[in-house]
Amino acid sequence: MDNSDSRRKPHVYGKLLMAVILTAFCILILKQSPKFSGSNVFSRHEPGVTHVLVTGGAGYIGSHAALRLLTDSYRVTIVDNLSRGNLGAIRVLQQLFPEPGRLQFIFADLGDARAANRIFAENAFDAVMHFAAVAYVGESTLEPLRYYHNITANTLVILEAMAAHGVKTLIYSSTCATYGEPEKMPITEETPQLPINPYGKAKKMAEDIILDFSKRSDMAVMILRYFNVIGSDPEGRLGEAPRPELREHGRISGACFDAALGIIPGLKVKGTDYATSDGTCIRDYIDVTDLVDAHVKALDKARPNKVGIYNVGTGKGRSVKEFVEACKKATEVNIKVDYLERRPGDYAEVYSDPSKINLELNWTAHYTDLQKSLSTAWRWQKSHPNGYRSPSAMSV
Ligand SMILES: NC(=O)c1ccc[n+]([C@@H]2O[C@H](COP(=O)([O-])OP(=O)(O)OC[C@H]3O[C@@H](n4cnc5c(N)ncnc54)[C@H](O)[C@@H]3O)[C@@H](O)[C@H]2O)c1
Ligand SMILES: *[C@@H]1O[C@H](CO)[C@@H](O)[C@H](O)[C@H]1NC(C)=O
Ligand SMILES: *[C@@H]1O[C@H](CO)[C@@H](O)[C@H](O)[C@H]1NC(C)=O
Ligand SMILES: *[C@@H]1O[C@H](CO)[C@@H](O)[C@H](O)[C@H]1NC(C)=O
Repeated sequence: MDNSDSRRKPHVYGKLLMAVILTAFCILILKQSPKFSGSNVFSRHEPGVTHVLVTGGAGYIGSHAALRLLTDSYRVTIVDNLSRGNLGAIRVLQQLFPEPGRLQFIFADLGDARAANRIFAENAFDAVMHFAAVAYVGESTLEPLRYYHNITANTLVILEAMAAHGVKTLIYSSTCATYGEPEKMPITEETPQLPINPYGKAKKMAEDIILDFSKRSDMAVMILRYFNVIGSDPEGRLGEAPRPELREHGRISGACFDAALGIIPGLKVKGTDYATSDGTCIRDYIDVTDLVDAHVKALDKARPNKVGIYNVGTGKGRSVKEFVEACKKATEVNIKVDYLERRPGDYAEVYSDPSKINLELNWTAHYTDLQKSLSTAWRWQKSHPNGYRSPSAMSV
């Protein structure tokens, strides 16, 4: 008995020592991981440099906005749950801005209020650009709850977290779909908002939530109502790459490129009997480079206790037929076009009056040549036939 006891003791000490070493090792590792250390560079405000939370930054517009912000020396934290965006876009940005403290990506779902709160607690944001949303008119008519739920709830979560953590500037991505089908063109910010599909209605609800909240706070709010966004980074670093399963609901430029690439047999133009010059819908196409410029100007001019609401469009309407012709020229493919019935939830004619943003933010659209914007986007599409996935990843 004595014998075994004396033999066991060193054994116990050895185990204890091992445990102490392991614990020390773990603490060391945790200390080096930014989440657990007080030295996370994003957890402190940097004087003179604005740290922007870009929600939905893996998506089409959010990634372009992040690129512009980073180029302009802002610090950027992207939060995205990749439900619709692309990790590939994040990787491009990370490669362009690898320096510590410039760009961080956080994979999280904004539908998760606790996750959002943690992100705000651990990071010192100066402003939020809230892009994350589901954003397809056609899909919204098929799955209204998805739209009402996600668009309003995520905006609430963001506002609550901003209020709880003292983040005072919000730039919100709204849409011309909140106007519905006004009688009078062009659309000004005073045009009554009477949305006619769940997407537009949910976006209007989110605007109302923001506006009511802003009345009781000193938040600086800018609401930008985009018209139809096209184009991509002129330097070819980023592009528009929606999930293949969203193709069906996709926007016209994506469909046009898919047709030119032979991924789909041709273009389906929905509705030729609208009361417009050539019977097809009229839209105001705004290049994404101009759009993100509007965001930077809005951020710059945002002031506490002030709300700015701005249309972001070119002020010029183009018919779908015109668009298709520009697309054929840009791609140099004679795309097959089928003319079909109207699609539910579409409106005949929509174009903006951008004079307010022009006057107050000194913003003007510069990329207004439809064919040029499409050529830029086409160059990226052609060199990325699988979107952000590499060709080898595609074959797996
Ligand atoms: N594309 C247009 O023509 C257009 C026009 C008007 C307004 N908008 C608005 O602009 C914004 C961005 O649109 P987009 O075209 O870049 O769309 P997108 O689908 O490319 O990007 C949206 C991003 O948000 C992310 N996201 C969605 N739900 C999320 C969640 N719960 N948590 C975290 N991330 C989430 C997605 O993963 C995606 O990366 C949207 O708010 C949209 O309503 C777009
Ligand atoms: C992303 O967010 C959406 C919207 O809240 C949610 O439905 C989806 O399940 C989330 N996906 C992931 C991978 O977190
Ligand atoms: C949005 O909300 C619905 C619930 O209404 C959910 O089923 C869906 O997965 C959510 N996510 C996205 C990305 O739409
Ligand atoms: C407005 O912007 C232009 C560049 O687009 C610039 O040259 C001009 O100085 C700006 N005006 C003001 C008042 O800031």
